Amino acid sequence: MKTERDLIDKLNKEKNLTDMEFHALITDTHKQTTDYITALANSIRKEIFGNHIYIRGLIEVSNYCKKDCYYCGIRCSNTAVSRYRLSAGDILERCALGYNLGFRTFVLQGGEDAEFDDDTLCHLIHSIKEKYSDCAVTLSLGERSKDSYRKLFNAGADRYLLRHETADREHYGMLHPSFQSFDKRMHCLYTLKELGFQTGCGLMVGTPGQTPEMLVKDLRFIRKFNPEMVGIGPFLPASNTPFSNMTAGSVEMTLRLLSIVRIMLPEVLLPATTALCISNKSDYTRGIFAGSNVIMPNLTPTDARKKYLLYNGKAGIKDTTEDLLTSLKDNLNTIGCKVTVDRGDYRKRENNV
Ligand code: 5AD
Repeated sequence: MKTERDLIDKLNKEKNLTDMEFHALITDTHKQTTDYITALANSIRKEIFGNHIYIRGLIEVSNYCKKDCYYCGIRCSNTAVSRYRLSAGDILERCALGYNLGFRTFVLQGGEDAEFDDDTLCHLIHSIKEKYSDCAVTLSLGERSKDSYRKLFNAGADRYLLRHETADREHYGMLHPSFQSFDKRMHCLYTLKELGFQTGCGLMVGTPGQTPEMLVKDLRFIRKFNPEMVGIGPFLPASNTPFSNMTAGSVEMTLRLLSIVRIMLPEVLLPATTALCISNKSDYTRGIFAGSNVIMPNLTPTDARKKYLLYNGKAGIKDTTEDLLTSLKDNLNTIGCKVTVDRGDYRKRENNV
């Protein structure tokens, strides 16, 4: 019988495990296992990225959404939400502020809002790229057609985040209404990759009905898809949603998955997500210790931020972006890391084995 250390060493060497081994690694909560996997993932992060942490300016462009995901606070059925949409001018203003603060990636994230049609977005992407040619633009705007994704890519968007949410078809059906399709979501991810986007998939940990077997499927999918970015955060209940009374996902399990992903895909861009900071607003440092190398401070105007509530208890709603960044720099400093003024693109190591 392999010890957990053997499993972790095998994962590091072969970048893969059997389903049973992944299962064993996910469900082993012994402190020695956590310490060993955390130390390894952290050392890989350091080996690849040194003490540099990439920052992304997150601009939550709209909380209108035509989707109705059972877990999400801005689902279309939630009539308690006060809806907003930023104008191109608002967004460019936030980019200007972000640029001065050292951001070199802007992430435009929003619900699936039909007002953000291809022309509007392409125009916006052009404007950002024209003013800030040394910056990357990441989009996180949900499912769109191939034609639309192509237009956005040709307009200059560099990256696209679209969490797969769960790699288990039945589980997908438990988290979403029947008009939302597992196959369509997966298809979108493969399309984004094919078009040339640096593509991010990802999942929530501890969504209702999730089992360790499903997490094994997620890891299997992540390995096969080989994304440039992976977003993993705990599920947190959101008011006025079908899941409002459900239990939150485990931060420890989230950290374990971050470490596994860092070991399996050493160069991957792996954010310590805002959801990780549910009990303490500087808990992103725990993500960094587990192997994360990206932080996405909120660059949304503060009055809009409090309306973009995917879940209850979101961190960093009130602080100005300047203050968020100052405390981020301080916190990183105390753990021997620093914010890097860099686009922070995905790079494959040359001598990668
Ligand atoms: N808890 C945690 N994460 C959530 N997301 C949406 N709703 C929640 C929630 N209640 C995540 C989804 C989505 C991303 C933008 O936010 O994974 O893809």
